[in-house]
Amino acid sequence: MVDRSVSTDSLGRDQAAAVDSPPKKKLKIAIIGCGGISELHIQALRSMADVDIVAGVDIKPRRLQVMQQKFSLTHLYDDYLRMLAEVKPDAVSVCTPNSLHAPMAVHALQAGAHVITEKPMAMNPIECRQMLGAAKKSGRKLAVGFQYRYHPHTQMLVRARDSGQFGDVMFVKCQALRRRGIPNWGVFGRKELQGGGPMIDLGVHVMEMAHYMMGSPRPVSAAGNIWTYLGHKPGNVASMWPGWDHATYNVEDLAVGHIRFENGAVMQVEASFAAHIAADIWNFSFMGTRGGGSWDPPTIHTDSAGTMVNITPAFLPSGDFAGLISAKLRNFVDACLYDAELMAPGET
Ligand SMILES: NC(=O)c1ccc[n+]([C@@H]2O[C@H](COP(=O)([O-])OP(=O)(O)OC[C@H]3O[C@@H](n4cnc5c(N)ncnc54)[C@H](O)[C@@H]3O)[C@@H](O)[C@H]2O)c1
Repeated sequence: MVDRSVSTDSLGRDQAAAVDSPPKKKLKIAIIGCGGISELHIQALRSMADVDIVAGVDIKPRRLQVMQQKFSLTHLYDDYLRMLAEVKPDAVSVCTPNSLHAPMAVHALQAGAHVITEKPMAMNPIECRQMLGAAKKSGRKLAVGFQYRYHPHTQMLVRARDSGQFGDVMFVKCQALRRRGIPNWGVFGRKELQGGGPMIDLGVHVMEMAHYMMGSPRPVSAAGNIWTYLGHKPGNVASMWPGWDHATYNVEDLAVGHIRFENGAVMQVEASFAAHIAADIWNFSFMGTRGGGSWDPPTIHTDSAGTMVNITPAFLPSGDFAGLISAKLRNFVDACLYDAELMAPGET
C-alpha cells in the first residue's frame, strides 16, 4: 500500500538520507529533455543520497550548456538513443514535449530503464497502450508525473473519502482556468507537438487529481467542445506571459467537457489558456451522497449531529510546487530501488 500517513515532514523527504550509513544502491538516472521542468527534477534528484544523475539529453546546445554550468552534468547528449546505448541508465525522466513522451519512454523501457514521464502520459490512448505494453514486456516501472496526487489537499480528501465521509461521489467539477496565460516558451501552442492546448496541459492535472479522489472509476463516455479566439492573434493587453508565438498557435484557448463513469458519476471539466473570467482558477469541487467539498480551499460539507457543517483543516503541510515534484520523484526512486508501490503508475 502507498503510505498515506499524515506527516509534518517535507513532502519530498529523502528515505535514504534518513539513515546514517551511505545507501547500498544508487539509481543511475538520465534526464531526457533539459528544459524548464527538468530543472526542478534535477534539483529534487540531486538532493537524494541514493540517486546519481548520469546524463542529460537535449537537442538545443544552449540547454546542454545550462545543464553543464548550472548542474555540473558532464555526460551530455543530443540524441537520446545514443545516450541509452552508451550510458545504459537504470532509469530516465522524460521531460520533453508531449509528442515525444511515448517514443522516448518505449525506447527507454526496451533498453531496460525504468521510466517516469512528465504529464500528460502521451498524446492519445494508443500511445499510452504502447508504453504500458513496453513496460510489461521489459518488467520495468512506468510512472507518470502527476504530482498533484501528493498535494496535502488531495490527500486530505482521499482520506476523508476512504473513511466514508462522502458516500458515493456523484458529480465533480474541475476547473483549470487561466484568464490570460498562454505559455510564451516551449511548444505549448502547437497541436502536432503537444496534442492540444489547455485541456491536455492544465486540465489533465485537475481532472487527474479529482479522478484519483473519486477512486479512479472507469470512464464510459465523453463529450466536449473547444474554441480558439485569442491565442492565434498577437496579444493586445498586458498579461503575465506576453509575446507568445501566435503565428504557430493552433490549439484551443478554452475547452469544456463532460465525462461519464461506469459507476454513474459525472465529471465536468473546464480548461483555458485564455478566457474572459474574473481570475485564474485551479480547483475541483464535488458532491457525494453523504458529503461534498472542494480542493481549494480544502473543505468538506456534510451533516453532523443534526447540523449542516463545513469542515476545514486546522493544519495541513504546505503543498509547494518544488516539494510536490520532489515527492513524485522520491516515490519513483523508491519504486525503482526498493520496489515501493508507484503512486501514479502508467495504469491505475
Ligand atoms: N508536472 C508539471 O507540473 C509540469 C510543468 C511543466 C511542464 N510539464 C511537462 O513537461 C514537459 C516539458 O515541458 P517544459 O515546460 O519543460 O518545456 P520546455 O520547452 O521548457 O522543455 C522541453 C525540452 O525538451 C527538449 N527537446 C525537444 N525535442 C527533444 C528531443 N528530440 N530530444 C531531447 N530533447 C528534446 C527541448 O529542446 C526543451 O529544452 C511537457 O510534457 C509538459 O507538459 C509538466
